[in-house]
Amino acid sequence: MSPAVPLHVVILAAGVGQRMRSLLPKVLHRLAGQPLLAHVLAAARALKPAAIHVVYGHGGDQVRAAFQAETDLNWVVQNAQLGTGHALQQALPGIPNDARVLVLYGDVPLIRSDTLRTMLEAMHLLGVRVPLAVLTAEFEQPEGYGRIVQDDNGYVLAIVEEKDASPAQKRIRTINTGMIVAAAGHLRIWLAEINAQNAQGEFLLTDIFALANAAGSPAIAVGVQDVAEALGVNDAWQLAHLERRYQQRATRQLALAGVRMADPARVEIRGQLQLGCDVEMDIDVILEGDIELGDQVQIGPFCRLRNVRLGAGTQVLAHSDLDGVISAEHCRIGPYARLRPGTTLAANAHIGNFVETKQTRIGAGSKANHLSYLGDADIGANVNIGAGTITCNYDGANKHRTSIADGVFVGSNSALIAPVSLAENATIGAGSVNTKNAPADTLTVARAKQISLPAWQRPRKS
Ligand code: UD1
Ligand code: CA
Repeated sequence: MSPAVPLHVVILAAGVGQRMRSLLPKVLHRLAGQPLLAHVLAAARALKPAAIHVVYGHGGDQVRAAFQAETDLNWVVQNAQLGTGHALQQALPGIPNDARVLVLYGDVPLIRSDTLRTMLEAMHLLGVRVPLAVLTAEFEQPEGYGRIVQDDNGYVLAIVEEKDASPAQKRIRTINTGMIVAAAGHLRIWLAEINAQNAQGEFLLTDIFALANAAGSPAIAVGVQDVAEALGVNDAWQLAHLERRYQQRATRQLALAGVRMADPARVEIRGQLQLGCDVEMDIDVILEGDIELGDQVQIGPFCRLRNVRLGAGTQVLAHSDLDGVISAEHCRIGPYARLRPGTTLAANAHIGNFVETKQTRIGAGSKANHLSYLGDADIGANVNIGAGTITCNYDGANKHRTSIADGVFVGSNSALIAPVSLAENATIGAGSVNTKNAPADTLTVARAKQISLPAWQRPRKS
């Protein structure tokens, strides 16, 4: 089949997933922060198919809702789960006869597009078009999987399910990963012929292999390189196991790209990374969403970064949580900093311990080193925010902004009642409660005057 033949991917995802013991449909359980189905979709999309059909059933509305934004999917409902063959049949009406069909499983998430490409290419065998191919794996413990029965040349005579296998067949270690490619026209004929007369009483997709052989066009078997690609998720233990496999793969790639991790087993990657040169990470670092770290960025222990872009030389110290943050070069963040969405730091800004920021811009060289809340604020360059400073941005109904110009010094424990602005080089006396704007180049003190009462006496016990 030439590459001009349209490729239709069918993802089977209608199974009940009982063994997960969860209210969430199986394909929505997360691996590396993404639903299982999203991983399979990514592998499918990399092949640039003409269409992707997702067969759903159990908990289907929830699954569809989770992927609502993805408009390239053709949802096919399977109302009763009568088997994999029946599931694939539901998708056929949307597939033209001249297409080739690639079947994937919604709960086999580590499959790589390169492997699928190899299988697609293998369908041209010595220049001959083969109408059916199956991806196989060699398992030490093949129990529970369909076994591949092959002739001396490797052609597939049949696939036998565990429950239907003879003792001799059970000893076969070449298993069916479930992923197959088939010419749509042939598939239509074969699927019309299968029945449910087997140990499971289901319409088994695997039965088409004996039919293909009987018709004189036996399938070819393509072996998978990394067995992890063939592993499915049936219960929470397998899910955890696959998560480790995924993380191992991902952190290995990072290390080979030059990132130095104190312990790769204690770095979690749940998104897309773009990292510069000489990036270092201590233990227990979680990276989520879109992460961009410049050259020589250092991430301390016990940090979570989500959707962040950090400029070169920026240091994130222990126990910091960053979400939706953009920093320029050489910033210092933490330890124990919480930076929330909309935080931007210009070069050399310092955010210290127990400082929370949100929708706040911090100018170059400015510092908020201790115990502050800076929300909805515009802070200029070379500003010093004293310990305990709070931007009182919320009046109980609306949020208001605080504006702090270049060179301002805010004394410790000041409350800035927004909307309020502090002009250039203003100094705010410690303990002030600022309800009004502060003029430039001036000391503003907004606190009760200190008094001493010499005649006052301490109460005594009566
Ligand atoms: C299937 C294969 C088996 C293979 C194994 C690999 C068949 C008959 N058997 O067995 O040879 O070794 O996968 O993991 O194909 N599904 C539906 N609708 C249904 C039934 C299943 O959409 O009516 C979906 C499931 O959601 C799942 C996939 O098909 O994604 C496989 O179904 P499952 O019941 O797990 O098949 P196995 O018994 O594991
Ligand atoms: Ca299964």
